[in-house]
Amino acid sequence: MPEIVQNEPVRVRGDALQPLGVRVENVDLSYGANHVLKDVTLDVAPGEFFAFLGPSGCGKTTLLRLIAGFNQADRGRVLVGGEDVSRLPPWKRDVGMVFQSYALWPHMTVWRNVAFGLEERRLPRAQIKQRVAEALELVGLSHLADRRPSQLSGGQQQRVAVARTVAIRPKVLLLDEPLSNLDAKLRVQVRRELRDLQQRLGITTIFVTHDQEEANTICDRIAVMNEGKIQQVGTPLELYQRPANLFVASFLGAANILSGEVVGAGSDRAFRLGEVFLPIPPGATIPPGAKLVFRPQDVQITGKGSGAFSGTIVHREFLGAMTRYGVRVGGTEILIDAPFHAGDRLHEVGQEVAAMVAPEAMLWLAS
Ligand SMILES: Nc1ncnc2c1ncn2[C@@H]1O[C@H](COP(=O)(O)OP(=O)(O)OP(=O)(O)O)[C@@H](O)[C@H]1O
Ligand SMILES: [Mg+2]
Repeated sequence: MPEIVQNEPVRVRGDALQPLGVRVENVDLSYGANHVLKDVTLDVAPGEFFAFLGPSGCGKTTLLRLIAGFNQADRGRVLVGGEDVSRLPPWKRDVGMVFQSYALWPHMTVWRNVAFGLEERRLPRAQIKQRVAEALELVGLSHLADRRPSQLSGGQQQRVAVARTVAIRPKVLLLDEPLSNLDAKLRVQVRRELRDLQQRLGITTIFVTHDQEEANTICDRIAVMNEGKIQQVGTPLELYQRPANLFVASFLGAANILSGEVVGAGSDRAFRLGEVFLPIPPGATIPPGAKLVFRPQDVQITGKGSGAFSGTIVHREFLGAMTRYGVRVGGTEILIDAPFHAGDRLHEVGQEVAAMVAPEAMLWLAS
């Protein structure tokens, strides 16, 4: 029996949650002629908070529904806790899904909404009572058990949806953009609560979002998806620092992605952008046709010197903590983020500046 320690200790009684891993193996799925999931392979560790992150239409919901059992793959399989569940219906999978439109029953109280799934499963009344009370306590809504959904805020409704799913004691919790209906401030609050809840329950959780900040702040690892394919799996930091390809580099945060030509040899190599030559750090391995990738904050406006190149400021956005400059360099524009400190002066549009890219920040990506 796991004891869950937090500010308010909550004890999960009875059939305690034992986190299970999830494995998706070589899955292909089409809707008619639309090939939506393409050879998807993925491992989510027991107890992990995992995100599917990608642009609209890339297949995130389809993949989540496949794990839950609402979609069938054309090829490949799904394992939960090492067991092949590909042929099991949703209710036999130990998996609970919170849908994007969390669709609470409007005519039922919070209590009845949470009890509903348990009544469907024909649990004994005493056990239903206990589980509903626990689930509501977990999400901090015990005091609102008698309200109807229309008498709750968006964030509270969202928590009822989570309580309803948690009450059935799934071994895996699937959340499809659960915060998308909330305003910006509430999203930040509820995402912290979700993370806390997930930690307290220790439940394997997969969270779908197209918001990278959301994925970065609450998830242990992220699978970045595009056009039905997993692009990369890693921690938020790994994805940001070592993107596997140009899509990941550009999807996670701002990036300069420059096409140019490698000229010279040995320690004299440079990356030619029109008439401008950027020195290439010694020892850099550059795949054929690679583009140069670096983050705006890894470029510094400096005096002229070795390693520096010059350009003209074409736009400027003062953002408070930093200023983002657009600088025209050899026919392309690069973004430079300069931190702002009290007393600093800003550079002006039209001004020519020298800048330098931190050599360790340069990435060379061919695709
Ligand atoms: N039931 C369906 N029948 C046919 N095509 C579908 C169906 N559901 C989804 N699709 C298509 O499959 C692709 C992937 O859809 P999916 O809902 O998985 O995307 P998503 O990544 O969840 O996007 P969003 O961020 O907008 O929710 C899209 O091209 C979509 O139009
Ligand atoms: Mg979706």
